[in-house]
Parts: sequence; structure tokens; C-alpha cells
Amino acid sequence: MSGQLADVWPGCIQRPRSSRSVTLCLVLPLLAVQLVLLISVHLDIAEAHKKGSCTNTHRDDALCDRLARQGQCDTKEWMLDNCERSCELCSRDKDDNARFRRILDEFYDYKSQEFPEYATYVGKHDYDDVLESFKMDAFDRRKNETERFLHRLKNLDPNKLSRINKRERRIVMSCLHAFVDGYKWREYGALNSINFLEGLANGPQWPIYSRLESEKDFERYLKRLAAVPDQINDQITLMKRAIKLKRSSHLVSVSRVPSMLKDLDVDMFFLVPFQHALTRQGFSPHTKLQMWDKARSLMPYVSQALNRLKQFMDKDYFDATREQPGVHSLPQGKQYYEACLKWYLGYDAKAEDVFSLGVSEVNRIEKLIKEVMMSVGFNGDLKTFFKHIETIPKFYNHSKEQILQNYRTMLDNQIIPKLATLFYNVSIAPITVISVERDGPWGSYGSGRFYVNLKEPEKRSTFTMMPLTLHEAYPGHHFQDLYSQHFDIPMYRAQPMNGRLYSVPFHFPVYSAYSEGWALYSEYLGHELGLYQDPYELFGRYVSEIFRACRLVVDTGIHAFGWSREQAIDFLNGYSDFPLSQIAAEVDRYITAPGQACAYKVGEIKIKNMRQKAEKALASMFDVKEFHHQILKIGYVPLDILEEVIEEWVQSKLKNDPSVTADYDDITTGESLASKHVTSNSLLLLLCITHWFVNYITFR
Ligand SMILES: *[C@@H]1O[C@H](CO)[C@@H](O)[C@H](O)[C@H]1NC(C)=O
Ligand SMILES: *[C@@H]1O[C@H](CO)[C@@H](O)[C@H](O)[C@H]1NC(C)=O
Ligand SMILES: *[C@@H]1O[C@H](CO)[C@@H](O)[C@H](O)[C@H]1NC(C)=O
Repeated sequence: MSGQLADVWPGCIQRPRSSRSVTLCLVLPLLAVQLVLLISVHLDIAEAHKKGSCTNTHRDDALCDRLARQGQCDTKEWMLDNCERSCELCSRDKDDNARFRRILDEFYDYKSQEFPEYATYVGKHDYDDVLESFKMDAFDRRKNETERFLHRLKNLDPNKLSRINKRERRIVMSCLHAFVDGYKWREYGALNSINFLEGLANGPQWPIYSRLESEKDFERYLKRLAAVPDQINDQITLMKRAIKLKRSSHLVSVSRVPSMLKDLDVDMFFLVPFQHALTRQGFSPHTKLQMWDKARSLMPYVSQALNRLKQFMDKDYFDATREQPGVHSLPQGKQYYEACLKWYLGYDAKAEDVFSLGVSEVNRIEKLIKEVMMSVGFNGDLKTFFKHIETIPKFYNHSKEQILQNYRTMLDNQIIPKLATLFYNVSIAPITVISVERDGPWGSYGSGRFYVNLKEPEKRSTFTMMPLTLHEAYPGHHFQDLYSQHFDIPMYRAQPMNGRLYSVPFHFPVYSAYSEGWALYSEYLGHELGLYQDPYELFGRYVSEIFRACRLVVDTGIHAFGWSREQAIDFLNGYSDFPLSQIAAEVDRYITAPGQACAYKVGEIKIKNMRQKAEKALASMFDVKEFHHQILKIGYVPLDILEEVIEEWVQSKLKNDPSVTADYDDITTGESLASKHVTSNSLLLLLCITHWFVNYITFR
């Protein structure tokens, strides 16, 4: 019996789920009465364990029912938890809302444990000593654990939850369901973790975001560094499996990888952040030297592993890349593609419907563009107009510094002063504009940083700068991020795990239709903010918009209808002034991340529809500031939930019920995500400027 107990208590202390449960663990042994009660419960659990019916992978509902009837616990759900996790004998949440919130916390913790580099990035440092696993059994484990969370949530009676928690329960369940549904496709994209868009070839991000303060932190960094070679080998193993199953990526997704790996300065990435932090610590010289030696001694293994990866890509993988750019060519490819669409859009979208939505949007926007062309007295077609614009000196041939300066001016002098016309209580948190040079998206955003692609700056037109800034900075992604951090949004969805797109749909949702839909809607808001004044600014706006409409056509064209890469490039080129190399890189991106590019337009249309509906229902009571507040306050959610939030708000306004519309407090605290990172910003900036970090950011 004591042997059994030993399983329980030390378990609590060794692997605390939260600091609260640690405290409870330490206090509870004193409560002898409770202990006696628990022992008898535990005996049954131990018995169940022996039968193998009450382990992490298997539950015995009948047993739990019986124990619940015997009055050994408050509710059946509590027993289910306890059957599964003896650690929870420590805590007896009686309140359903508290129990629900605890499950959310545990889920966030679990997600951080499975994706520790991401946790480091968002400032949660509990798992700084490990790396994400790329083993097949990790796939199974993630699915099993996710199902366990689902099970626990199903066992909560929603009627006992508050209005907010009831909704949160549905949000988290849809998130978990999406992951479990995606498991079916684990041997598709998830096997191919290396491409030009994101992942290892772009340089690891965790070194610069690691917490390096105590000696222990440094030891954890070293432990992680030592794990890098295995992680690389495991990724090679997965790619070998993809080759065997004939489910590899297309050549364009990986053709740039070997040269990227060759250019990867391993010391710069793995050693410099460590060294930089070490020199500033007050450890003894001996300790410092020891740590430094240890770090350096690990580097050859890291380099060798990267070389192995490079050779593998160069030789084996290239020869085995899939022939067609579209995933329709894979077994069950069309279903796989529609599963990706569903993951990004949040509903069962048919490729045909997305395609025709794209065509009709392209036609609609093209008419608007024609009107602008007429207004400047131009009668030719779009492509000739682009040629005409190329001869206007003010739009081209700017230096990198000039362009960066223009972005800043646009933000500070044009956009920010006007925001108060559409938003409540805006206080502005700083955003850094950073130039990067690579084959990839024109702009992107991550943690308080607005990245502008300035490869070949002289070829980049300036008349699309305004929509890009609205999209990435204010009132787009940056604003949205600040909002979601300010309100009490459960951590697991407050900072979506952008990136790891290769793994979709076997990935926790990041609600792209919501975030990208909002960002594109923000470009539209430029009209209402009076930021598209002259015809060329208006032209820039429509050119940006039509590009997103084209994506619906091209993404579905490639992945569902057999379009070739050239066909896609031709189509986009007809509607864009981008340099051809930029267009090709865009198409390669769509080939690499099936479905992702559809989130923008679909999300924007849905948000606009919600607004129209609300305007109609509320008439003179409609307040656009309030509408925007409602959209942003809920944080990253699936669009059906967003629709419900707006509907609820409309109803409450109609009924004059203030409870829904409360809390218009000051939404930005001035503290951006970036400032939470412990890493010195100067180093970060140095590294950002010399390298391109694309993990966990969101693209234009
Ligand atoms: C996941 O669950 C299945 C079915 O219960 C089980 O067979 C498998 O061993 C579990 N795998 C892992 C890694 O937990
Ligand atoms: C930009 O510079 C290139 C090369 O110097 C030149 O050929 C081109 O005409 C210039 N474009 C404009 C609009 O001034
Ligand atoms: C925010 O705006 C609301 C609505 O206009 C107002 O009632 C509230 O006082 C404002 N709060 C702050 C901190 O300015």
C-alpha cells in the first residue's frame, strides 16, 4: 500500500503541472483525514492500473462511475481525472469553472511541452532544455493526449459553467477536434519538415529567445544544444518515410534549402547568443570557462548533423521530390487539400467554391482598378498600366534606407494619428520595422516586429506600402496581437503557434482566417481612415487586394485542379507589378503550404459580412468602434465563434443589456510581446538584420 502511495506523492512533486498543485501536494500530506479517504480511492485506482484499465491511454469509466457513486469524489468528472492522473488526487476542484480553467492551463502547458521551441519563443521557459520531437510515436502521443483533454472537457457539464467559460469550452474543443482530425494526415506534410519557407534552413530561433540568467538556464541551453543532432536525424528519418510513401514535397519547396544550409552560420546562431549572455553573468571565471568549453565542444556535432541534412537533401530528397506541384497528385490528395482548407478556414470548404469565389472577386476588383485607371486618363489594359507606372520615377529606385524610413513615416504620421476614429482608447505600443532580404513574402509580422522584404529594393514599387503597413502593423497584426494580450484570453490561444505550416492539418489551429482576415480587413479600413487619397494610392490598395483574390484561384488551381507552376505565375503576373522573381517565390510558397493563402480573402469577406449584418440590425445604434472592439477582444478564434460573438453583441444592444459590451478600458498597455523577451534587443536586432527569422511569424 505504501508502495502504491509512493507512486502518488513523489509524482506530484517531481512533475508539477502548476505551482498551485505543488503547494497543494506539499500541504495535503498533512491532512491525514483526507489521506485516509484517498487511500481507499487509490487502492481501486491501483487495481485498475494493474488491469491496465486506468492508465494514461485507457480509462475505466465504469470504475470511475462506481467510485463516484460511493461518494469518494464530488463528480464523475473529477474521478475521471483522478483515474487517469494520480497527481490530481492532490487537488479537488469543486468549482466547475475553476476546474475548466485548470484544464485550459494544463493544455497550454502540454502544448508548450510538446513544442518547447515555441514555448521559449513566447517567453515560457519551463521546457528550455528540450526540443520538439520528430518521431512517429510523438505523433501518436500528441493525438492520445489531445483526446484525453477532449474527454475531460466532454465530462464537464457546460450548464455549470459561466457564459464566458461555456464559450471557451467550445473554442478549445474545436481546437482539440481539429488536431485529432488532422492526425489522419500525419503521414503527409508532417513528414516533410524542411523547406525554404520556414524551419531549420531559416535558422533556429530558440537560441536568441532562451532565458539565460541563472547557471541552471545555461545548463539547460547546453542540454538543448546537445539534442540538436538527434532532432536533425529524426527529421531526416521522417523525410525518408515520406519518400518511401511517395509523399515528398515538390522540388521548389526545397531547392533553395541546401544553399540556405550552406550559408547558415552555425556559430552565429547557436554560440553567439550563448556567449553574449555568458559574458554578462557574474558566475565564477571557472564556471564560465567550463560552460563555454562545453558549448564549443558540442558544435562539431551540430555542424555534422547539418551537413548530413544538406547531403541528404541534395542527393536523396531532390531525386525523390513529387513531380506535380499540387497535392492532388498524392493518394487521397484532394481530400488532403480540403482538410488543409478546413484547417485554415475553419469550415468545410470545397475547392470548387473557393476557386469560383476567387474568380468573382478578381472580376469585381478589376473593375475598380479600371475605374482608377480611367480617372488618370488611361485606357489600356492592366499590364500596360503597370508598364506605364514603371516609368514614373517616384514609385521605384529607392534605397533600402529610404524605403524603411518611408514605412516609419507612414506609421507615425499618417496611420497612428487617425486610429482613434475607428478604435477605442488606442494607446500605441512601439513596433520595429526591420528589413530582410530573401526569396519569400513581401512583408510579415511576429512579436512586435514588422519585417519588410527588401531584396532588390530598387524593383519594389512604393504604392503598395500603405496597405502592407495597415496589414502588418496598425490596425492589423500588431494591434490584434496587443489586444489579445491585454484581455484575459486563455494562453493556449492568446499567442497562436504560427509556423510549422508544413504539418497542417496535423497541427493545433492558429485561426488564420481570423488573423489574416482581420489584417486584410485592416487594409480595407485604409479607405475609412482616408489613407488612400490620390489615384495611385487607391491603385496600390486594389492591387494588393486583387492579389489576395488571385490567391484563391491559384492555390486551388495548383492543389485541386492540376495547374502547373508556370500557369500560376502567368495568372498572378497578369494582375501584379511584383518583379517576376517575387511572383515565383509567392507561387512556391503556395505550393509549399497548401491552403494557407486562401485564409486572407475568405476571412476578410466574412468579417465584412458580419459588419454589414450588424449595421443593418442596429441601424443608427451601430458604432464601428464597438464593432471593432468586439472583434478584437475575443482573440484568436474560429470564425463561427466570432460570428456568434457579434450576434450576441447585436442582440444585447437591441435589448439594451450592457453586460456584453462592457470593458472598454485602455486596450494597449504599451507593453508589447517583444518587451517580455529577456534577450537583449540589440543582439536580437543584429541577428534579425543579418538573418531572416521566419518561424512563428505570419506572412503578408
Ligand atoms: C496511443 O493510443 C493507442 C490506442 O489507445 C495506443 O495503442 C498507443 O500505444 C498510444 N501511443 C502512445 C505513444 O501513447
Ligand atoms: C531605375 O533605375 C534603372 C537603372 O538605373 C533605370 O533603367 C530605370 O529607368 C529607373 N526607373 C525609374 C522609374 O526611374
Ligand atoms: C475608453 O472608452 C470608453 C468608451 O468611450 C470610455 O467610457 C472609457 O472611459 C475609456 N477608457 C479610457 C481609459 O480612456
